[in-house]
Amino acid sequence: MSPETDPALLEELEVDLFVEVLHRRYGYDFRDYGRASLTRRIRNLVSQQGEQSIADLAARVLHQPERIGDVIAGLSVPVSEFFRDPSVFLALREVVLPALSTYSQITIWQAGCARGEEVYSLAILLTEAGLYDRTHIFATDISDAALASAKEGIYPSEDLRDAARRYLAGGGTHTLSDYYHARYDRAKMDQRLISRVTFANHNLVTDEVFCEAHLILCRNVLIYFTDVLQDRVLGKFATSLVRGGFLCVGTRENLQFSPAAQKFHAIDIKAQLYRLQGKR
Ligand SMILES: C[S@@+](CC[C@H](N)C(=O)[O-])C[C@H]1O[C@@H](n2cnc3c(N)ncnc32)[C@H](O)[C@@H]1O
Repeated sequence: MSPETDPALLEELEVDLFVEVLHRRYGYDFRDYGRASLTRRIRNLVSQQGEQSIADLAARVLHQPERIGDVIAGLSVPVSEFFRDPSVFLALREVVLPALSTYSQITIWQAGCARGEEVYSLAILLTEAGLYDRTHIFATDISDAALASAKEGIYPSEDLRDAARRYLAGGGTHTLSDYYHARYDRAKMDQRLISRVTFANHNLVTDEVFCEAHLILCRNVLIYFTDVLQDRVLGKFATSLVRGGFLCVGTRENLQFSPAAQKFHAIDIKAQLYRLQGKR
C-alpha cells in the first residue's frame, strides 16, 4: 500500500520528517527512540500546540526556533515521584552508600532527573547517611523546563504526603516533612538539599560524558530508547564510572540483552543495581 492510501504509512513518514527537523535543524536526536511511544508523544504535541498534523508541526518548528523548548518539554516525559520504588532506595542505602563512604569525595550523576523528585530523594538519603557534605551530584536532563522546575523544588503537597510511606519503606530515619515546608496545597523542598547539586542540560544521545562518577542513577529513561541506543548510552556510563562504580537503572529496564552489559555485574537484579567490573 502506498502512503497516499495507508494513513499509518503516511503518519510514519510525517514522524520521520519531524524527527529529521529536530535533528538537522536543532541537534536533538530522537531517531533511536522507540517509535510507538515517540509517535504517541508527537501526536499529543500536535493537539497541545493546536496543529492539524505532524507535518504542520514539523514545518512550524522548522521555521520558529522559539518553539523548540516547548517541543522538547512535550516530548520528554518528566513523570517521577519521590522515593519511587522504595526497595531501590533501601538497596542504595544498605549496599551502595556504605561502599561510597570509603571515598573522601563522592560524585553522583543522576541522568534524566525530570522535575527533581529523585534528586531530592537521593539528597535525603545522603544526608541521613552523613555523606551529603562530601558529595557532588550532577542532575541532568534534556528538558530545560523540567530542570527549571527541579531547581525551584515546589511540588503539590499531596505528592509529598503520598511519598511519606515510600520514604519509610526506603529506610527513612526521620519524617519526610522534616525536609519541606508545606503551605496550603504547595510544598517547597528544603533548598539545602540541592546545595551540592549542579543541574545541567545534557543529552544522553548526543553529548559526551563529563564526570568521573562513583554512582550513576538513570532510571526510567533507557526504556524510551531502542536496544541499539541503550547500548550506546550504557557504553557512555561505563566510560564515566570509576572502576567498581555503581549503576542503577529503572526496575522495568534491563541490561541483560545489551553487549555493554558485559562491563557490569549485577548486584541486585530486583533493584536493577549493577557494578562496573574491576575492583577500585
Ligand atoms: C520518566 S522520566 C524519569 C525521571 C526519574 N529518573 C524517575 O525515574 O523517576 C524520563 C526523563 O528522561 C529525560 N530524557 C529523555 N531523553 C533524554 C536524553 N536523551 N538525555 C537526557 N535525558 C533524557 C526526559 O526529559 C525525562 O525528564
